[in-house]
Amino acid sequence: MIKQAIIPLAGLGTRLLPLTTVFAKELLPINGKPGIEYILDECIEAGIKEVVFIISKKKMSIKDYFYSDSFYKKIIKKKKDPRIINEYKKILKYKKIIRFVYQNKPLGTGDAVLKTKKIVKDKFFLMLLPDDLIIKKNCSKSMIDIHNRYKTSVMACMNVSKKSVSRWGIFKLGKKINKKNYYIKDVIEKPSVVNAPSNKAVIGRYILPKTIFSKLSKQKSGKGGEVHITDAIQKLIFENSKFIAHNFSGKYLDCGSMNGYINSTLEISKS
Ligand code: UTP
Repeated sequence: MIKQAIIPLAGLGTRLLPLTTVFAKELLPINGKPGIEYILDECIEAGIKEVVFIISKKKMSIKDYFYSDSFYKKIIKKKKDPRIINEYKKILKYKKIIRFVYQNKPLGTGDAVLKTKKIVKDKFFLMLLPDDLIIKKNCSKSMIDIHNRYKTSVMACMNVSKKSVSRWGIFKLGKKINKKNYYIKDVIEKPSVVNAPSNKAVIGRYILPKTIFSKLSKQKSGKGGEVHITDAIQKLIFENSKFIAHNFSGKYLDCGSMNGYINSTLEISKS
């Protein structure tokens, strides 16, 4: 059973400048609700019991968002507004399952994941990248079902245009399991168009094995000078760890770029 999820939140969010000079991008509202709440709801619905937030000292506003109890209590006492009472109840529900670790230098997603080494208990855990919203179908839940059936690691997969492959982690797929699931032979971070083995990209949902930590502790920085989680995954695959690429059914929304962020509000308000 997958009970723990980790969420890297310590990046700089430069693609959303100027907003990210003062706002943590994960708290930016999407149709009136912070992006991170969509991610938490996905985790809770998928049966996750503990969510580890990897934040930095510069992004303490994320912790403050969940720890404003005295403010809520004061306002509720004065106003008795049912909407505010409900919002506070929701925050309390989230707070019960969240814990925090720190990555004060944004050295890359792989380095962020390594910060959870002492906290992850079970053989497998879920990781979600909060820039990647998937609506209409719970992707984490579908991936957990696949994990339970095949007892392997699982990564979310989506077709992207051939000319955009250098923005993504790209899969080389192996044996087909069924229409939506394939074993993975390789994963390459941001390949050039000519070197890309396919146009199937990694999207930010991963069920990873605990053995990834030993790879990450030795992992050197890769493309763009960052420690990438995909590079550590590639090492595990080459050592015969089984990974499945899951072609998810939900709708993907990229909230990490300005155009994507604006579009995500429009899409969610329609759905
Ligand atoms: P990204 O590289 O997509 O986001 O990381 P970023 O670095 O925040 O934003 P840009 O590229 O400058 O616009 C994906 C996720 O991993 C987290 C980010 O917070 C984001 O949620 N991350 C990234 C970390 O936690 N630590 C890092 O060192 C890098």
